[in-house]
Formats: sequence, C-alpha cells, structure tokens
Amino acid sequence: SSHHLRHVDSLATLPSGAGRIPHLNAVILGEALASEENDLVCPSDEFSKQALVPSPQKYLEMYNRSIEDPDGFWSDIASEFYWKKKWGEQVCSENLDVRNGEVKIEWFKGGITNICYNCLDRNVEAGLGDKIAIYWEGNEPGYDGTLTYSELLQKVCQLANYLKDIGVKKGDAVVIYLPMLMELPIAMLACARIGAVHSVVFAGFSAESLSQRIVDCKPKVVITCNAVKRGSKVINLKDIVDAALVESSGNGVSVGVCLTYENESAMKRESTKWKEGRDIWWQDVVPKYPTTCEVEWVDAEDPLFLLYTSGSTGKPKGVLHTTGGYMLYTATTFKYAFDYKPTDIYWCTADCGWITGHSYVTYGPLLNGASVVVFEGAPSYPDSGRCWDIVDKFKVTTFYTAPTLVRSLMREGAEYVTKYSRKSLRVLGSVGEPINPSAWRWFFNVVGDSRCPISDTWWQTETGGFMITPLPGAWPQKPGSATFPFFGVQPVIVDEKGVEIEGECSGYLCIKSSWPGAFRTLYGDHERYETTYFKPFPGYYFTGDGCSRDKDGYHWLTGRVDDVINVSGHRIGTAEVESALVSHPKCAEAAVVGVEHEVKGQGIYAFVTLVEGEPYSEELRKSIILTVRKQIGAFAAPDKIHWAPGLPKTRSGKIMRRILRKIASRQLDELGDTSTLADPSVVDQLISLADT
Ligand code: WT7
Repeated sequence: SSHHLRHVDSLATLPSGAGRIPHLNAVILGEALASEENDLVCPSDEFSKQALVPSPQKYLEMYNRSIEDPDGFWSDIASEFYWKKKWGEQVCSENLDVRNGEVKIEWFKGGITNICYNCLDRNVEAGLGDKIAIYWEGNEPGYDGTLTYSELLQKVCQLANYLKDIGVKKGDAVVIYLPMLMELPIAMLACARIGAVHSVVFAGFSAESLSQRIVDCKPKVVITCNAVKRGSKVINLKDIVDAALVESSGNGVSVGVCLTYENESAMKRESTKWKEGRDIWWQDVVPKYPTTCEVEWVDAEDPLFLLYTSGSTGKPKGVLHTTGGYMLYTATTFKYAFDYKPTDIYWCTADCGWITGHSYVTYGPLLNGASVVVFEGAPSYPDSGRCWDIVDKFKVTTFYTAPTLVRSLMREGAEYVTKYSRKSLRVLGSVGEPINPSAWRWFFNVVGDSRCPISDTWWQTETGGFMITPLPGAWPQKPGSATFPFFGVQPVIVDEKGVEIEGECSGYLCIKSSWPGAFRTLYGDHERYETTYFKPFPGYYFTGDGCSRDKDGYHWLTGRVDDVINVSGHRIGTAEVESALVSHPKCAEAAVVGVEHEVKGQGIYAFVTLVEGEPYSEELRKSIILTVRKQIGAFAAPDKIHWAPGLPKTRSGKIMRRILRKIASRQLDELGDTSTLADPSVVDQLISLADT
C-alpha cells in the first residue's frame, strides 16, 4: 500500500507567520517533512477534502487563535450549548503556579448549565429525537438493543426521578459499579441531571477496591447489577458489592440503598443474594417513575464526577471534574479528533469505568448528537473476529481502541479481520499507551485497509480529554507519534530543573496554562493535587510522562516517569500492588516494576521476599497472585513473581528500582553501579533465582 505513503511538499506553501509556535517551524518550512528520510503516512486527498480541519494551515489558524485568544475561542464553542444563565465576565481564571498561592482553575464560572440537558434534551429539541443514541451489543452475538435520543432521555429521567425520590440531592455522591449495559451511561446521565456527583468504579475492581472508594466518597446509593457474562464466564457482581458494603460499614460508611439491575441474561434474580431493606431491583422501581424530570441547573464549576485513579502511593486519587469546561472540552475534542460527521456510527471499546468511557463513550459523543455503540462483551468472544463482526453489523465509521487490543488481535492473524468487510470504517483511534509502529501499521493497513487515518490520542484521567492528538485530515502521520497539541493546549518539555527545552529534545512533559477539561482537585486532598502535579515543576502541570519532540515538532510519548505502570492501558501504581502483596501472610516485603510485555505493553513484575524460613513453592506463588487479584482486581495480577531473598537497597534503606528494572528485563550487563548498595551480593542472588 505504498501509494498511501507519500511525501508532503505542499507544506512549503504555508503562509508566512502562520506558525507562532516555535517548535512547529520545521514543519512550516516544510524542509524536514519533505525530506526523504521521513516515513510519513498521509491522509488521502479525498479524506482531507471532507475533513473539518483539512490542512496544517487551517490547524495553525485555529490553534493560534486558541492560544492567543482562549476566551474568544472557547466562548464561541460555549455558545453552541445551552446555558440557563450566561457565564460572568471572566471565561477562565487560573493559578497553576504554587509560588503564587493555591492552585485554582475555573472556566465559565457563574454560567449555569447542565451536561445531561446538553447531551439529551438539547439534541431532542434540535430534531434528533428519533436518531439512535446507543446501539447496544450484548456479550452473546445476536443479543442487542437500541435507544433513540428520546428513549434515552426518558430512561434517564425515570432514574433521575427515582434517585431524587430516595433523597439524592445536588452534590451527593453516587457510586456506580456496572458493566457495559445501557444502564451505565443512563446512570451517569441521571446523576448529572440532578446535580449528583457520580463515581463510576470499573466493574473489574475487587470488593476491597470498591469499598475503599465508597469509604472515600460516602455515596447515598450504589448502583450495580446482579451479574455479567464476559465471554463464557459469569461474574457475580452483586456478591462483590455485598462484600464491599460490609467492609465499608466496618469502616464507618453505611450505604442505605443498593439499586440492582437484574441482568437477566447473566443471572436470574432468584439466584441473587439479597439484603432486604437495602437492596432494590431497578426493574421494580425505576420504570414506575415519570419519563420527564426537571433539570437541576448547576454552576459550570459544580462537580460532575469523581473518578479514582492510581498514583505513586497506595491510596487511589479521586480525580474531580466539573461541569462546564469538561462539557466543552470533551465535545470539541471528540468532534475534531474523530472528524465527526452526523452520519457517523462511533464505537469506543473502552469501559465507562475508565476516563475514556466517561469522555468518549458517554459525554463527548452524546454532546455531539452522535450514535454510539456500547459493547458488553469481550473482543475475543466467541472468536477474534467479534470486533469486525460488530463493525459490519452497525456500519461503524469510527473505531477507537487501545494498542493492547490491536496487538492481541494482530497475534491471532489477519484472517479474522479480512473475513469481514469493514468498508464503513473511515477513522481509527488509539489510546492508553504509546502505540508501537508495527501495531500502528497493522491497525492502519489490515484493519483500516490503508484508508483510515489513526488518531493516536494522548491524554489522561486528569486532563478530561485529548491533549496531544492528530486531527485526521490535517496532518501527515508518523506511526507511533501522537503528533501535535489540541486547540488550547500548550505542551512543554522541561529538563530535570524545570527549564523548558526547545526544538528537537526529550524530557518531562508538562502543560503550560489550563485548558477547560482540566481536573480541578483531588477529592478531599487539594494538597496532594498540588504536590503531585504542580510542585515538581513550578508554573506547570506535570503529566508524569516522558516525551520527546522530533525535528518536525511531532511529539513522541515515552511512558511514565513515576512509579506508575501501564498494563493494557490501565494505570496501576506499583505501591498499590506492593501493598496487596505484603498483605499476604507469608510475604515479608515486595517491590514491583514494569517490564515490557508483548501484548499488554507493560507487565507487572514483582520481587517478593518471604517471611523467614518459608520455602518457595508453586502453590504459594499462586496464592500470592490471588491475593492481588482479590485486593485490586484481576487486571492487576502480577505476570511474574521473582523470589527475592533480599532486595537491593541503599544504606539508607531505599529500594533501588533501577537495578530491579534491569534484572526484570534481563539487561544484566546494564546493572550500573551497585557499589552503593548496603549489600551488593543480593544482586547475584536475585540473578540466580530469576528463572525459578
Ligand atoms: C496515561 C494516562 C487517557 C485514557 C486512557 C488512560 C498513557 C494514554 C496515550 C497515548 C502514549 C498514552 C500516558 C498517560 N497514555 N494515552 N496515546 N500515547 N501514552 O488514562 O489511566 O489516566 O493513564 O496513559 O502514560 O499519562 P490514564
């Protein structure tokens, strides 16, 4: 398909002065890009012609305005949404510099709106009532359903009325622990409608993790379902919730109501354990409520949701997003990064339990009036062709997924893909970790038939929406690069001292100035917010990622630089896994590092020191892994337990992870200086035990 790879010379025709961003200059001049050594993948002329942002010139025009006149840029966008009352004089008020006092970010303060209204009522009023909002595909092929915008609005209103009736008020937290049923976005939107703050917990988290989150945010109600089938496995979610609620009461937080959806295809209600007085079947109460519900109008800066994510200490962080800025940001990023057209059928494979599902299953697409596919099942069930079966079934135009899924399907072979037509596809997307160029090319050539640009979207739970992303149609792509910043985003690369570096370079990725989708605090811990994100490099938001910028100004994310690992696009703190490991009675000490993993991106590699006299055994290894599954969730299970009679520590007792990383990746000739260790002989011991 080499005819799709062509070099760009038209870049040389950019208007002078178009690039006010210094590091884009190489691109403006067109020198580097047009040079032979670049392996660029260009959108076809046909694609670019119809794209919202058809050229680098247009991108620069919009980008420059977004930086020079952010108030004007974002106010114009805000005006496309419904506001009960317009925002005040100031569009944005911010202080990101800890040296100038408390970190504070506000956008559209004083503006009164509601994101549920903007997702649903506004679109219904605009004539989209009969348009499909959600195409739902169950775990079993052939088990499916749809909801139009009007139907979705009615369902949301019924649940909102029920929640109000049991006393949920503006500002109250609601925990949602559901798989990818339509009821998950319904529950999120119902909370938003009444001003309640949802906290969705991914339904792969264990009872302990769920309880930890419940204890932190103290919800009035937990919304769940009795069970779910993933592939051929039935998972009894209600049992997990029961255990979590018992543990939460033990920690002083009792939840009055557990609203449980009967997911009949996975489990009948008769087989579900029940606590009278606390547990309520969704189907018994919610449908009885009126299908209309007054909106609770909220300030743009009122909280919309909390989403817990991992940091470098054991305690998960409650990332708090507010209403107005998040609304504009998810809507706008969705529109441009996927070149949204009203006829699109959009499918994001992420679960609503993660930020991707918040911003790009629920809010971003629905704010645009898009049709969204929600898939309950597993991408390899009943076989590895399931995704393309779904793409053909719903005529999916935009397919957004994670590199780990691309790699795992790539291993199964192209036959599963080419068996299906996929001719509806026009844009692909990737998120969660850097996509390696070979996976990128397979995704592009095999899945997209060398026809569909790939939006490799770099962002984070904290950023609310895309930060560095291609705009398909605008830029030639470089496989593996997230390319350029989204409108309003000013990425900078700094050195260890926090000094910005220009041109071709690599260092720590920070962001200068705020953007509307930025998180406003960590729930209940503003100090940790400042310490983690704003103190490392004063004046900037620190992302925790490393990044390099090439001679053309393209950005290449290089992974986390903190003690966070990225397993299949899921962020896991090494400290969390370590604390789960040492809770095992036979485990004295543990150190966890990330290692390269062919499918997952990174795998979890755990060095474990047993209590004195305990012999190594396969059984013990299994039981230790099980402890982690139970305490965090299956996705955090270590891939490898490496028995460690001792850990390499400095004389002051600090574990030297650098050495552990080298041992884990078997780069034994790169161990570096081990002479500062309290006991250098532990290194040899570890090496000798590597394959036991
Ligand atoms: C971390 C954020 C944002 C949704 C999914 C994960 C890594 C995410 C990319 C990408 C390179 C990426 C970063 C980031 N990451 N997308 N396209 N290229 N790295 O959200 O759990 O908040 O994790 O995921 O390391 O910091 P998250």
